[in-house]
Amino acid sequence: MKIDIITIFPKMFGPVLNESIVKRAQEKKKVKIAVHDLRDYTLDKHRKVDDRPFGGGSGMVLTAEPIFRAVEKIKSQGRLSVRQAGKATKPHVVLLCPQGEKLTQKKAKTLAKRKHLILICGHYEGVDERVKENLVDEQVSIGDYVLTGGELAAMVLVDCLVRLVPGVLGDKNSLNFESFEGNLLEYPQYTRPANFRGMDVPEVLLSGNHQKIAAWRKKEAIKKTKKLRPDLLKLKN
Ligand code: ADE
Repeated sequence: MKIDIITIFPKMFGPVLNESIVKRAQEKKKVKIAVHDLRDYTLDKHRKVDDRPFGGGSGMVLTAEPIFRAVEKIKSQGRLSVRQAGKATKPHVVLLCPQGEKLTQKKAKTLAKRKHLILICGHYEGVDERVKENLVDEQVSIGDYVLTGGELAAMVLVDCLVRLVPGVLGDKNSLNFESFEGNLLEYPQYTRPANFRGMDVPEVLLSGNHQKIAAWRKKEAIKKTKKLRPDLLKLKN
């Protein structure tokens, strides 16, 4: 999977992309992530990426020109490498903004199937509507709250997608029994010691009886979901 990120704050990404599983996924060549500074695609000497909204109002709006130029450049480079690889992988362009479709595990699984994503980080009071109408394939939000920009949202999305790419997580099972699978939260987990400050691990987990353990986990996952996230139980898969 290839992910290109277009942002006015490229330096924000280093600490997240160069740590932990996301770093390892890149080292293992499971994903290729490139961060592009939107200002590199401006045409004026001040490298201006925003302007005042037509019709008045507060704040600034990201202009269409550098965003179109950045996406076109990335797409044209992609076409070259695609031709070399001999198969077509049309990039899917995603704008991170609060108006987008809310990111869920289901949405992440759909996006993780894409071979090439271009993520645009929205900013200020918004992005020129012509970007949304003519350049972007879909808009994604990470929740119903407003961030100062799409950068943190893009990092959340990348983190969430990278772990779904085949071969990134070592243990195959760790994807099967996690929260949101089958619209359930994950069952309670314990590790050593079996008794910590007088608090015991449930007896069944020490029994070695795998059938009993599986049944207990299912029951506890349902109990936990009913208590903490009853809304999940109403969802269709
Ligand atoms: N930009 C600002 N707020 C956002 C959100 N909630 N999700 C995605 N991008 C955003």
